[in-house]
This record gives sequence, structure tokens and C-alpha cells, in this order.
Amino acid sequence: MTKPKILVSRRWPQAVEDVMKQKYDVTFNISDEPLSTTAFKEALSVYDAILPTVTDKISSDVFEVKNPRTKIFGNYGVGYSHIDIPAAKAAGITVSNTPDVLSDCTADITLTLMLMAARRAGEGEREVRSGNWSGWRPNHLIGTRITGKTLGIIGYGRIGREVAKRAHFGFGMKIIVQNRSKINNDVLIRTNAQQVDNLDELLEKSDFISLHCPGGTENKHLISSKQFKKMKNTAILINTARGEVVDDEALISALRENQIAAVGLDVFNDEPNINPGLLKFQNAILLPHLGSATQETREAMGFRVLDNIADFFEGKVPRDRVA
Ligand code: DGY
Repeated sequence: MTKPKILVSRRWPQAVEDVMKQKYDVTFNISDEPLSTTAFKEALSVYDAILPTVTDKISSDVFEVKNPRTKIFGNYGVGYSHIDIPAAKAAGITVSNTPDVLSDCTADITLTLMLMAARRAGEGEREVRSGNWSGWRPNHLIGTRITGKTLGIIGYGRIGREVAKRAHFGFGMKIIVQNRSKINNDVLIRTNAQQVDNLDELLEKSDFISLHCPGGTENKHLISSKQFKKMKNTAILINTARGEVVDDEALISALRENQIAAVGLDVFNDEPNINPGLLKFQNAILLPHLGSATQETREAMGFRVLDNIADFFEGKVPRDRVA
């Protein structure tokens, strides 16, 4: 039997590529640079499956191909707002993602950002490296403690729940949650969490606010000027979800006007380009989209994609089908 032809848009962990080579007729993007719209469009006539990731902009133009050979996009990543899902559906193409396997590591990076922002770790590291540290003193780089504070989690899916676990059991934080649908009580009581009625209530009550909702048009600029005005001026905002959830200009203005105390970002609008306005704030912690960046997780993500496309080629519904 001929092996399905697969295109992988970026380089993946070696262990996953090795398995993939045995099972499929696979083409790797050796340059490891994002592919263009034209390249994806052409690929639709050549490959049975395309395995894109978060850096690939799969717009509706990509799907304007008559009788595409591609029948599945096995996305490497949990977020899929970079893929035009209605266009994929219209073209009869299945899309899958990689949930679960990255929840722990993304929650860990959320706590990393919370601690870095609260304890001014970015400023401190820059001071040491620049040779400007003059030694210990009682008023040096004073931050705020996270123990016992209130954490507001927006979007209470798998990652949000892992964040709650770490914050509640590790730091005794009080957890409040805002989510589109009602969260079952048996889930909330695991971390003694309380679901609030609306976003404003969460923003007003939280010392830390962490975003774990999907990106895309539905949540574009969910956090903008109006929302910053609701926050405490001691609040710390963390975004490990998607850049578009936060309105950059409103964030810059909130930092400039001291409407909030600090921000921790692992995701950005228009990655890898960072709004230059953010770079001048010492109290903005900026990480290069590291949420899932551990060997264990990146391998698990790859194997999860392989599970999905294996299901598909065996005629089954992929376990993580999103379209
Ligand atoms: C995802 O999976 O969507 C992350 O943002 C990258 O790991």
C-alpha cells in the first residue's frame, strides 16, 4: 500500500520526525521558515495531509483549490485561530489540534510570568547583567507577594484549571473564574474556585488576571480600555492565550497611566513582531511564546498529531477533531 503523502510546515522534535519518516511519505520544510500562502495553496493539490502550526497563517485563500488532495490539517498546537475553520470546513478538510499534552507546561509558564511580574524578576536580571546592582538594601526592587492574593482566570478549560491548581495549592490563592458556559460545581470545588457572573466582576476583584480563552475573532480585544479601567491599579495581567485577546494600544496606555501594576505576556499580536510601545516598560515581562516549550511537551504534541492523522487514515474520527 502506498504511504500517505504528508507535508510538515516546520521542523519538529527529532523523535517524532523519526517515527513519521517510517510511517509516511513525508516532506519536511528544511528551512524551518514559515511557508507562504502560495506554498500552502500549492500543497493542497500535492499532499494527503498537511501538518501546520501556530506560525502558519492558513487564510481562506489557501482553500481556494479545486478538488484538493489534502483531506486533513493536523495542527501542531492546541490553538487554531491561525486556520480559517469555516473555509476548511467548506473545502471538506478535517482539522485536528493537540489539547491536554501542553496544559501542564502552559500553566507552568503562566505561574512563571506571575512570579516574574510580581517579584520584578526581569528588572532584577537586567540590573545584574548590566553591572548596575549596588547590593542589598531594604527598599530595593520591591514587588508584591502572590501568596493569598485573588487570581481571576478568564476561560476555565484545561489550562485554566491547571493554573488554578498551582495557584491555589502552591500559593494559597483565591480563585475566581469567568467562563462562557457554567462550570460544574465538582470542578470548581477542586480549587475552591468561584465562578463570577461577568467579566467586569472578575476584573474588579482580581489581583492577578490570567487569560486562558481561545483567540480568533470571538475574543479579539476582549481586554481593551474599558476593561483596564475596571482593574485595580495594583493588578497584574497575564496573557498566555493569544495576542489578539489584548488590545496592545489600550495595554500600553494602561501601563503608561499606571492603571495596572504590571503585565506578563507570552503571546503577541503579529508574532514575532512586538509592538515597540511595549518594550519601554520595565514592568512588562515579555517571553517569546514559550508556553509549551519543553522537550517532553513538544514531543507529546508531535505524537498527538500522529495519533490524529493515524485515526484519520484508518477511517476513524480523529480524537482531537475541531472541524
Ligand atoms: C498552542 O499550542 O496553541 C501554543 O500556543 C503553542 O504551543
